[in-house]
Amino acid sequence: MSPKSIAVINFKGGVGKTTVTWSLGNIISQNTDLEVLMLDLDPQMSLTEAIGLNENTGHLDDKFGKWYEKSLKHRLTIYDALEVFKKAGQNFKFPVGFDTIYQVDEQLHFVPSVEELYWLDLDGFEGKSVKDFIRQFIGKIANSANLPKYDLMLFDCSPSFSLLTYSVLSCCDLILIPVNPDYFGSRGLSLVLNSLQKRIEPYPFPKIAVFMNKAKIYGGLLTNEVQFYMREVKRLCAEISKDNNIEVRFLESTIRESVGLKRAINEGELPRELVREFEQLWRECEEYLKK
Ligand SMILES: Nc1ncnc2c1ncn2[C@@H]1O[C@H](COP(=O)(O)OP(=O)(O)O)[C@@H](O)[C@H]1O
Ligand SMILES: [Mg+2]
Repeated sequence: MSPKSIAVINFKGGVGKTTVTWSLGNIISQNTDLEVLMLDLDPQMSLTEAIGLNENTGHLDDKFGKWYEKSLKHRLTIYDALEVFKKAGQNFKFPVGFDTIYQVDEQLHFVPSVEELYWLDLDGFEGKSVKDFIRQFIGKIANSANLPKYDLMLFDCSPSFSLLTYSVLSCCDLILIPVNPDYFGSRGLSLVLNSLQKRIEPYPFPKIAVFMNKAKIYGGLLTNEVQFYMREVKRLCAEISKDNNIEVRFLESTIRESVGLKRAINEGELPRELVREFEQLWRECEEYLKK
């Protein structure tokens, strides 16, 4: 497979973007031979915390903490890259390497977020000038002799339509949208899909996939309520595809609501049934990407 990039988005917070990015990154890197790079583009830094924070002490874990401090001190974070890009434009020089990319595991690497990303939209970065940044940044990573050839890049996006979201959406291969089985889940989906249509250039439009996260299970089956919202979301996907002449695929894979999920992520180990569900989700995404 040629390298692929997936942006996990939804303008609603709390639907599971970070959880899904983390889980897919871990499961794919552990169970396949793919080299995976995860990128945290959310200034709220949830993915960075999931990777770098020690739950017991509430502080950054030693290995990550030392690495992160160095990356900040030498101005080698993604925000620093963006600042250089803003000044120099297309042919910007920035030494992407293992001071910008943290090695979580052999096949799983990570670009953390930084608080400065909060101010991005106010900081005199203009939409047009930032739009090409992610494309250029991942191009540099792909061409670096010191880095692995990543097969997959997973972007954890912020819940607002930030400049970085705009930048990643205009160059990714797949937009992956988790929704939850409730009324606001389907409302939120219409909002995301309709605004994507307006905001993303250039064409061709990336592929879009929607799936259900936090699906309640009873007696081994999806509850009636979940099934109702599945039909509703599926119908919406078909309707929006038709009205806007884009392909929005509804994925059949569901991720169950699992009380222990947060702790499991902090401990770095997912329950078996969740691993199976995320593997299935990945297979569906992979198949769609190949098409
Ligand atoms: N499948 C799930 N089952 C149970 N809890 C979940 C599930 N997915 C996400 N959560 C929980 O929901 C909350 C929000 O998830 P998060 O991934 O941070 O959402 P987002 O990144 O969209 O804001 C977290 O507490 C997370 O542990
Ligand atoms: Mg998040």
